Amino acid sequence: MIVLGVESSCDETAAAICSNNEILSTIVSSQVIHSKFGGVVPELASREHEFLLNSIVDEALVEANIHKQDIEGIAVTRGPGLAGTLLSGVCFAKGLAQGLQKPIIGINHLEAHIFANFLADPELDFPFVCLLVSGGHTQLWLVTDMNHYTILGTTRDDAAGEAFDKGARILGLGYPGGPEIEKLGKNGNQRAVDFPRAFLNNKRLEFSFSGLKTALLYFMDSNKEKDNINLEDIAASYQQAIIDVLVGKLVQAVEKVNVKTCVIAGGVAANKSLRKTVNKALSNTRVLYPDLSLCTDNAAMVAYLGELYLNMGVSSSMDFDINPNLKLA
Ligand code: KG4
Ligand code: ZN
Repeated sequence: MIVLGVESSCDETAAAICSNNEILSTIVSSQVIHSKFGGVVPELASREHEFLLNSIVDEALVEANIHKQDIEGIAVTRGPGLAGTLLSGVCFAKGLAQGLQKPIIGINHLEAHIFANFLADPELDFPFVCLLVSGGHTQLWLVTDMNHYTILGTTRDDAAGEAFDKGARILGLGYPGGPEIEKLGKNGNQRAVDFPRAFLNNKRLEFSFSGLKTALLYFMDSNKEKDNINLEDIAASYQQAIIDVLVGKLVQAVEKVNVKTCVIAGGVAANKSLRKTVNKALSNTRVLYPDLSLCTDNAAMVAYLGELYLNMGVSSSMDFDINPNLKLA
């Protein structure tokens, strides 16, 4: 089946074509308009999606070497995300599905992130533990089958990606903050500053990153006058504090449910130091990561998951709604 995927849950406008579980094309346009504001401006993001969607879909069709009429089904992110941006994508996708008289399926963005790992390895088998780390979510899941998700742990406050974004803003870096901090800290000393690592020494599968962000703010405030302040070391230390907590809790989760495989999903999974630390800590567990380009928001994961559902005979009615707070389970 040839499926068009559409993604517009935040500030990436994306379209992709998936056919027989293979990605024929994937186009992502990251909206640069937000970088000067240090975060996503929802109204601007919605307008950008509306402006771009048509041409992004056309690009995806050209790259896949197919015509609009060849599309056999449409998959579109229906949540979670920003209400206005989700609406832009869903309205566009519904219009197209209606015009082409093809089935449509609303996709859970979090589930699509997890399923990006099947693109990395089609042989990936249930059960597995997933560390889902994005701009809005930091969660540990036990995945025993498609549609069978058990939450093992989550964050009390900020998400890991949010900690990167807010930290970058404090350090005067651009948005999104994750790649910026990773780049700045690449050659820094990760032990230069001893930032807090919340809950690391207890067995509860919980995260908290708001104290870490405040610690960075205080550190910068009290050291900004010093000449020998080394931003590379600070970025590396801040990044490692986030990673140590993520990896510590992931190891606890894997031990708790005793599975042989774990996957990492979401934008923060693109972080190379995270991957290195996970591989070292879980050397006896099979660990999978999506391709770097499929960690951050994209439509390939949406098209892939959409094709799975449509092939199972699952689709949405034309009046399905967006849900900005959509949960996985
Ligand atoms: O999955 P995603 O693209 O969007 C959401 O669903 O939220 O994740 C975006 C988040 C941002 O917070 C961004 O700073 C973070 O992922 N991120 C990274 C890296 N690339 C993106 N964090 C750390 N290191 C990276 N290389
Ligand atoms: Zn995402």
